[in-house]
Amino acid sequence: MSTLSFPLSDPSRQQSDADRDAVLAKPGFGEHFTDFMTHARWTVDDGWTGGEVVPFAPISLSPAAAVFHYAQEIFEGLKAFRHADGSVWTFRPEKNAERLQRSARRLALPELSTEDFLASLTAQVSADEPWVPAAGGEDSLYIRPFMFASEAFLGVRSAHQVDYYVITSPAGAYFPRGVQPLVVWVSDSYARAGAGGTGAAKCGGNYASSLLGKKEAAEHGADEVLFLDSETHTSIDELSGMNVMAITKDGRILTPELTGAILEGVTRDSILQLARDRGLEPAEQKMSMDWVTENIASGEITEMFACGTAAVINPIGEFRSEKGSWTIGDGGSGAVTLQLREELTGIQQGSVEDRHGWLHKLA
Ligand code: COI
Repeated sequence: MSTLSFPLSDPSRQQSDADRDAVLAKPGFGEHFTDFMTHARWTVDDGWTGGEVVPFAPISLSPAAAVFHYAQEIFEGLKAFRHADGSVWTFRPEKNAERLQRSARRLALPELSTEDFLASLTAQVSADEPWVPAAGGEDSLYIRPFMFASEAFLGVRSAHQVDYYVITSPAGAYFPRGVQPLVVWVSDSYARAGAGGTGAAKCGGNYASSLLGKKEAAEHGADEVLFLDSETHTSIDELSGMNVMAITKDGRILTPELTGAILEGVTRDSILQLARDRGLEPAEQKMSMDWVTENIASGEITEMFACGTAAVINPIGEFRSEKGSWTIGDGGSGAVTLQLREELTGIQQGSVEDRHGWLHKLA
């Protein structure tokens, strides 16, 4: 049972139907925001209280709010999909609720129950239902729940006041070039997260620490950056905001094991299941970059791809580093990758049977 409720006090919309239609015709990723946002507050004295859906608007915070100074912040990413009958669904939201709870524990933030998390998604997406793109395409409504330390206090301790919000944003392809083979820069200079650190938590700091690597990637003409483990700088970890996988000639699907420095992606987990379903042999293991490049060169690795909620599944065509460049297979046409992508998006959009019970109705 949800303990919080999220009433919509004023249903008037801020944006006209015509403006909304123009955004939905070409949503991009993360650029446009809907009419409403959902909010609840936690205090050390009262726990979680209230809950409301209010007009999307700037948030007023003290310049001393702890989040600005000590980055006590976590977030999630999900998508809402419209099915052919007009209903709206999301994908495995309990996994996101559990990960938000794990992230909260790691960042010393209060946990939000799975029921309250699901209630907040339902409230937000119901209020913004007209913003869910039409059925039949790949566009969706991206849902971004986040939680941060809003207490005005400069001492270093976990905050006594925390705010939780859900905002939504219509989403097309994550990468500006669409679903095209990515060029990925392998960073020898920077790591994203270290042993015992916050790598497995979905906190803003992990993404902040990836940005310089991403900038370096862009300087080398690459779309994304691949980070290696922080201790030995030899094993592959993940990209700036996505997990990474390889498919081999002999039918294995390989991804770095969860070391505590890697995000436990919901898409990652779903792909491992879909791979198993189609007779591929999934393995979560340490993968050195040298081993990866040798097996790309020998043709043993035939495909590689990036995967995450926002990016879905996107083929990687080439790795570049200070040491050289490696073209994967035929440069990223990725037959198996694209079959997995089609199956996953088909389940999400309601056109392929949801045999694992992954869908959750929102509106
Ligand atoms: C997601 O895939 O939902 C993320 O949070 C990653 C970010 C690159 C958008």
